[in-house]
Amino acid sequence: MHVLVAYASRHGATQGIAERIAQVLETGGVTAQALPAASVKSVAAYDAFVVGSAAYMFHWEKAAVAFVRRNRAVLAEKPVWLFSSGPLGSEAVDAQGRDQRLAAIPKEASEMLVAVNAREHRVFFGAYERDRKPIGIAERFVSIMPAAREAMPEGDFRDWPEIEAWAAGIAAALTEAPAG
Ligand SMILES: Cc1cc2nc3c(=O)[nH]c(=O)nc-3n(C[C@H](O)[C@H](O)[C@H](O)COP(=O)(O)O)c2cc1C
Repeated sequence: MHVLVAYASRHGATQGIAERIAQVLETGGVTAQALPAASVKSVAAYDAFVVGSAAYMFHWEKAAVAFVRRNRAVLAEKPVWLFSSGPLGSEAVDAQGRDQRLAAIPKEASEMLVAVNAREHRVFFGAYERDRKPIGIAERFVSIMPAAREAMPEGDFRDWPEIEAWAAGIAAALTEAPAG
């Protein structure tokens, strides 16, 4: 059993989640490799997939969307799990009382789920460092708007026990004997 954990990350938070998932999968008895989605030339060697992306302005990164679209025929025949790294802060609900995880579901999530018949799409809290170099228009915009900068909680909010438990569940699903 060989699993690809393909990710799209601008600043490393999603990459860290993908790498931890791969480590836990290895501990759970399956070989796993975490690679940037844009760098994957062929998916032929893999038996299952975890695909994750940072969420920016309610969207998955283009590299993750493109990875799923170009490999959808192969992925649809294999077990696939999806994740997003998004909301910031330590509160389950935002200032408007909305569930942060639900609000963070990217616009592409339902298309991705259906395209590859994924088992699940999970939202994990992400990480944000205020003074890092902005990448892309939205981040540049946020970086010059003091109100927007202040509204975005700074810190590493990744919930490692939750991420590890999710990955352990995937390892278990992939190694358990088929029913019957
Ligand atoms: C300009 C900007 C826009 C963002 N938009 C969203 C969003 O729409 N939904 C969300 O859940 N998180 C959003 N975030 C938070 C990031 O997704 C989070 O920081 C993520 O963990 C970053 O991952 P990366 O380091 O792999 O790029 C945004 C962050 C920035 C700086």
